[in-house]
Amino acid sequence: MSKKADEIIRRDHNVFLNTTMIDYNFVLGGGEGDFVYDVDGRKIIDFTSFIGVYNLGINSNVRIRNAIKKQIDVMMHGAFNEYYSELPVKFGEAFIKMFPKGFGRIFLCNSGTEAVESSVKYAKYFTKRQYTLAFYRAFHGRTMGSLGLTSSKFIQRSHFGPFTGVIHAPYVYPYRCPFKHRDGEECGEEYIDYIRENILKREAPPNEVASIIFEPVQGEGGYIVPTKSFVRGLREIADEIGAALICDEVQAGYMRTGKFLALDNFGVKADIYAMAKGLGAGMPMGAVVVKSDFGDVPEGVNANTFGGNLAAVAGAYEALKEIQRNQRKMEHDIKQKGAHIMKRLGEMKDRYGMIGDVRGLGLMIGVELVKDKDSMVPASKEREKVLKIALEKGLLLLPAGDSTIRVLPPLTISQHSIDKGLDILEESISEVSHS
Ligand SMILES: Cc1ncc(COP(=O)(O)O)c(C=O)c1O
Repeated sequence: MSKKADEIIRRDHNVFLNTTMIDYNFVLGGGEGDFVYDVDGRKIIDFTSFIGVYNLGINSNVRIRNAIKKQIDVMMHGAFNEYYSELPVKFGEAFIKMFPKGFGRIFLCNSGTEAVESSVKYAKYFTKRQYTLAFYRAFHGRTMGSLGLTSSKFIQRSHFGPFTGVIHAPYVYPYRCPFKHRDGEECGEEYIDYIRENILKREAPPNEVASIIFEPVQGEGGYIVPTKSFVRGLREIADEIGAALICDEVQAGYMRTGKFLALDNFGVKADIYAMAKGLGAGMPMGAVVVKSDFGDVPEGVNANTFGGNLAAVAGAYEALKEIQRNQRKMEHDIKQKGAHIMKRLGEMKDRYGMIGDVRGLGLMIGVELVKDKDSMVPASKEREKVLKIALEKGLLLLPAGDSTIRVLPPLTISQHSIDKGLDILEESISEVSHS
């Protein structure tokens, strides 16, 4: 590490509470498109989209940048919860078109956790019920309400409980299915049976459940792709018990899986969608989209200061127009790039005993590392080593779950960067396998 990077890290530690989770020292210099530069100007391929935010490439879209700059010169903050203004309305009208028919109410906020908490609040308000059913390994955010739903790692929850009004159920994990049918759709059905027979018979009184909240692909929990049977089962349960189905699209949404809404991959519709991350194309922004059938809420039920911030909405609106102009091509490209990455990772899985599972949808792909294929013991330390070596070799990655590596590049990434990045990933895995 350079002296300059070292010095910035030292000053950071003096002034900030600890938040950075990585134990490799990366100090950001800048970024563009597929690449990020460290503070010493070293060029690094990005397989993270900066935690799933830069879906349209790192800072590279000139239209988005210009729209934000232009709006900043006009006005940045319009107190949208107090005063009307046209830009958020234009955005809302365009945004709602991306949702299934029958969705007609949006709430604008600032982050994923606020979108999640607001979704849960709306479900409680509309149903006048008290419990929220969430899932093990879920990550919905870290503020107190969302943290109660999050059940990914102890470090995130320890000392902050008790959390009330939340009941957790198991989320289908096809690679580690604990039931008789260890594979695929049947495994998903067994999870649904378990929820019906145990959670909803012994713990969560069905007529007191306001909502079921889930991620269409679990992100932080390990990039776990559920089976169709599981997702459809959740929809059925919600309908049977009269609870709202909330889909947390914060990480998996916004074209990440090849569809605007990740849930569309499963042929299921939710009642409430929570979105953030890619939505603002780099500006902080979140949104909740609610089924029209629910009606509206009285003034003052839910609001904030910065939701609908004009500079953030300017970026979000331009990003949305970009998607609407190119949606078909994007869908095709994401599918093709995702298939190529899955194929190459699949070949690596055959070559390395350490790769236990490769799974994903579109460009949301996880590589789960294990001590060996038979024991399937998570290779957590080895995963950290791979991330570190990859960064030294010029590839930025993020972990997920106990021992999974996220492959989460900008959706606009070039074929060349994909292949170069995968070469580095393989070299890093190979080094750790042979160490
Ligand atoms: C699925 C999901 N929901 C909610 C959140 C929380 O979003 P934020 O960090 O913007 O509060 C995240 C963040 O990683 C997420 O992945």
